[in-house]
Amino acid sequence: PASRPVLLVTRRLPEAVEARAARDFDARLNPQDRALSGADIAALAAETGAEGILCTAGDRLDATAIAALPEEVRIVATFSVGTDHIDLNAAKARGLIVTNTPDVLTDATADIALLLMLGAARRASEGERMIRAGAWSGWTPTQLLGTHLGGKRLGIIGMGRIGQAVAQRARAFGMTIHYSNRRRLPAEQEAGAVYHADPEAMLAVCDVLSLHFPATPETTHWLNAERIERLPPGAIVVNTARGSVVDDEALIAALASGRLAAAGLDVFENEPNLHAGYRGLENAFLLPHLGSATVETRNAMGFRALDNLDAVFAGAEAPDRVV
Ligand code: DGY
Repeated sequence: PASRPVLLVTRRLPEAVEARAARDFDARLNPQDRALSGADIAALAAETGAEGILCTAGDRLDATAIAALPEEVRIVATFSVGTDHIDLNAAKARGLIVTNTPDVLTDATADIALLLMLGAARRASEGERMIRAGAWSGWTPTQLLGTHLGGKRLGIIGMGRIGQAVAQRARAFGMTIHYSNRRRLPAEQEAGAVYHADPEAMLAVCDVLSLHFPATPETTHWLNAERIERLPPGAIVVNTARGSVVDDEALIAALASGRLAAAGLDVFENEPNLHAGYRGLENAFLLPHLGSATVETRNAMGFRALDNLDAVFAGAEAPDRVV
């Protein structure tokens, strides 16, 4: 019916999510399924008469794009937990509601963090490349020796939902958990993890460092050369948060020199145009931003975004309102 609110959907979404979007809204899907610039989104919103926008972490809604959105647009529901692609101050100033999809991707992302830790520690992608290149001449006692996770100290920076889920999994591998977070967790949530008020001071005890804090102007290139230098020699760095929190030049230099044993990275600054230096590094285990990429999680993310849109157009408070 014509009375349903017009919803601009910036990318193709899982089938069940698109079906529900089409049921609840006059949904206008991005027919090309390509990343849109902020200006493209504003132009499409005007063209379609959108009252809501369902965007993804790959779309950039900066202050200029937000200012260019037609007045009719009341809400931007992002299909992501991260909101660094949206200028939240500009949204707030304009009275634009922004919602995200927390909780539903916690387990999937924590699984990928463990996959990266194991893959980096056990040199899995090196082994895979060797087989595919036809370069494996058989088992030898000294081939591709990695290191155990068991008995190692895992340092988690940012002990929110995903950080805690990573800690839970890492304990099962016999790791000792250290963490730094703006606030200390209650003892039952801490579950024996060692709290460090100062993340810099914690670096010295991180055999493995896993980053779980949001990308903000303050956290840009947080893991820089100086902080890498504080890690124990041979440490492993894992990033499933956002690429911009790592200084690529510094990490690449530390991996190339052997100062760090390995890194497992699922996210990169300027995706998909990651720093070319990573490609030549055998000890960099690289994934194309797969943190939430399971059928179950992507469906749940879509439904969660639609729950927020439904609530707003029903005149209720959005459950996952960010601003
Ligand atoms: C998020 O939700 O922020 C992820 O990075 C995309 O799945």
